[in-house]
Amino acid sequence: MHTKKVTLKVFRFNAKTDYLPYYKTYELEVSDHEVMLDLLNRIKWEYDGSFSYRRSCRHGICGACGIKVNGKSILACKENAFEMTHLFGDELILEPQSKKRAIKDMIIDKSDFWAKHEAVTPYVVADIDEHPEHENQISQAQLAQMLDADYCIQCGACHYACPVIEVNDEFFGPAAFVAAYRFAIDSRDNATHERLKATAQMGQGVWDCVKCFECQEACPKDIAPIEKITRLHTMQFEHKVAVPNIATRHAEGFVRSIKKHGFLDEADIVVYSEGYLGMYKHLKTAYKMIKAGKIHWNDGLPWVDNVPKSKNLEEIAKLIEISQTNKL
Ligand code: SF4
Ligand code: SF4
Ligand code: FES
Repeated sequence: MHTKKVTLKVFRFNAKTDYLPYYKTYELEVSDHEVMLDLLNRIKWEYDGSFSYRRSCRHGICGACGIKVNGKSILACKENAFEMTHLFGDELILEPQSKKRAIKDMIIDKSDFWAKHEAVTPYVVADIDEHPEHENQISQAQLAQMLDADYCIQCGACHYACPVIEVNDEFFGPAAFVAAYRFAIDSRDNATHERLKATAQMGQGVWDCVKCFECQEACPKDIAPIEKITRLHTMQFEHKVAVPNIATRHAEGFVRSIKKHGFLDEADIVVYSEGYLGMYKHLKTAYKMIKAGKIHWNDGLPWVDNVPKSKNLEEIAKLIEISQTNKL
């Protein structure tokens, strides 16, 4: 067994008594078999009984022990302490998932997370016989459709890593979208339509995601929330609940452009999704694109068509025709 001295700079705050948070330093002789949760336990048991954090299962299942180490979201019971020092050196900074929501040390107020989770109806809605004669099974193929969404443990790491959550209180967030997809794709469920409608609304829904991948980076279970967000986009079109807005028209603009030319018409996508007035917002970018030769100065004018046509256009148009699900 190897050991080494590790310096822990730990976020401390008691919302009842402290005006501002502060950091307290602890020096621990750490062994190579300890996980970060062991270090939290040792701070509490060996140094300060008032130190507070959440934990329950110690097996990466309950999602309670999510914290940040040097800014990286982790489950404290899953990450080996030595491996953390290999990543960040022998001084580790321990912080809660969201400092502005801290109640006591590592414990945060997760009420916004749970409210958004609840808003997507995170359970199977079905008219089920209370005394069934056999299990209500789904096939292997139907199970595969869930991808890894069913492995989410609601730890909140993705939610509190999401920049949109920080600026938009309405936004459901990546974990709620994973849950929405999980139950919307369940063949036993009867609330798919409502779930898709809720996640199609501007402000709260999937179209406000800026595809920054922070949620993907943060997830300790390696779930890919963006994949589920993209599936929800498609399902909304299939169920005809996608509502016309800049984001959905932008998505549709791609199809329209490919159908017409077999190539992407960058200027047309902007005009189609934002209109001629909206186009003025992008004049700076357009100028750079003209200089780089990506677009022509008169692209976007309705009577001008500068984009060449693919020699396989007919085949491309046919493929789009058979695969397209919905028009706004
Ligand atoms: S990809 Fe979307 S949901 Fe994920 S963190 Fe970024 S904005 Fe949030
Ligand atoms: S998707 Fe991953 S990070 Fe987000 S709540 Fe579920 S397990 Fe945690
Ligand atoms: S204590 Fe349950 S996930 Fe860490």
